[in-house]
Order: sequence, then C-alpha cells, then structure tokens
Amino acid sequence: MFYFKKSQLFFFFLFLVKYFLFLNKPILNLILLSNITVIIFWFLITALFFLIVLMLWTNAKGAPWLPTPRKKVIRMLQMANVKPEDTVLDLGCGDGRVLLAAARRFKAKAIGIEIDPLKAFWCKILITFLGLRKQVKVICGNFFKEDISAATVVFCYLLQSTNNKLEEKLIQELSPETRVVTNTFIFHSLVLVKIDDATRSYLYYVGTEPKKT
Ligand SMILES: C[S@@+](CC[C@H](N)C(=O)[O-])C[C@H]1O[C@@H](n2cnc3c(N)ncnc32)[C@H](O)[C@@H]1O
Repeated sequence: MFYFKKSQLFFFFLFLVKYFLFLNKPILNLILLSNITVIIFWFLITALFFLIVLMLWTNAKGAPWLPTPRKKVIRMLQMANVKPEDTVLDLGCGDGRVLLAAARRFKAKAIGIEIDPLKAFWCKILITFLGLRKQVKVICGNFFKEDISAATVVFCYLLQSTNNKLEEKLIQELSPETRVVTNTFIFHSLVLVKIDDATRSYLYYVGTEPKKT
C-alpha cells in the first residue's frame, strides 16, 4: 500500500504554508530545500508543465500526440496492402508504433517524421535497440518542410485542419498511386478507395482515376 510517512506530511504541510501564505523565511526555505519530497514534487510539476507545453506546441504545428491503438495500426496497414517492397511514411510518428509494425510485421521500409524532439529521440532509441536501423529512419522535423517523395504508403493520424493543409503537398510530392491511409480525418482531393467504418479509417490514393483493385 502507498502511504506517506508523518515526516513527509509535515514537510508537505510546511511547503503549503510557505507558498500559500507567501512566507519567505530563510529557515523555512532551508528546511524545505533539503527535503526530498519537495524536490520530487517540483520535479513532477516541472515535468507536467513541460509536457503540457509540448502538447500545445505540437497541436499548433499539426496535431497533439494521441496514439493509434496497435490493432488499428495493423488493420490500417493491411487496408493499405503494405508489402515488403513498400516504404511506409508516418507523418507525425509519435512513439513509433506504426514504423515498428510496418517494419516487423509487414517487412517494409519505414520513415517517420516527428516534430517533438523527445518522441523522435525515443523512436531512435527503440529502433536502435530492436536492430532496425537499416529498415527504419526517423527524422526530427516538421513534415510540412520535409521531402516526402520516397513514400509508397503514407500513414496519417492528425487533425482535419492539418489534413486540409497537407493535401496539396501530398499531391505535389507523392508519385501517382501512392496509397494514403488516414485515421478518423479525411482528405477531399485524393481518390477514395476504401472506408473501414469499424475503425473509422480511410484509404486513398494520389491520382485522378479510381484505382482498380
Ligand atoms: C495523433 S499523433 C499520431 C501518432 C502516430 N502517427 C500514431 O498514429 O500513433 C500526431 C503526432 O504528430 C506529431 N506532429 C504534429 N504536427 C507535426 C508536424 N508539423 N511535423 C511533424 N510531426 C508533427 C505530434 O507530435 C504527434 O506525435
């Protein structure tokens, strides 16, 4: 069972007194500074603040981090008929789950572009740890500014407004017949090939004529 010792509660009480009564006594500061509970408390508050700022920032750049459930990732990659000769590009790769599924389960090459440096770093560690560095590449950057022409399959889970802004870039840079699979949010100018109502995912391809499957 998780419980606080009396001494920890005492220091926490001192901390509340100091901050809520705006006391600035040196002795109080000293007692508090030397206490591990306060250090951990401040560490957690700072980490939380930092995560909220990152979330707001990535949201402004394209979408906040909200991972696609793993089963849905597999289903979407199956829907896009990913083969070993494909290069799957995840626009905003988050924790790298789409890249790992594409590489390990479908034996495809995978590229992730992620703006959040912490997540990009995490993906790189994961890829190195799993020995996938030859097959999977992660770029820490803004997908609006990166070259995406190498992709044969593009995976998106962003926002509707971001998909709207992205459409022109997809049409300009991707070769015809590149498949684009998107979670929840749609594209208006790409050719719709399939809808999976159960997972609310959509498969498109870049081109003008409906693809014959
Ligand atoms: C909804 S999450 C999807 C993560 C992953 N693709 C998945 O399906 O599990 C969107 C991701 O896109 C990233 N992102 C948002 N805007 C971006 C941008 N302009 N360039 C690169 N990554 C971006 C966010 O940091 C976040 O990790």
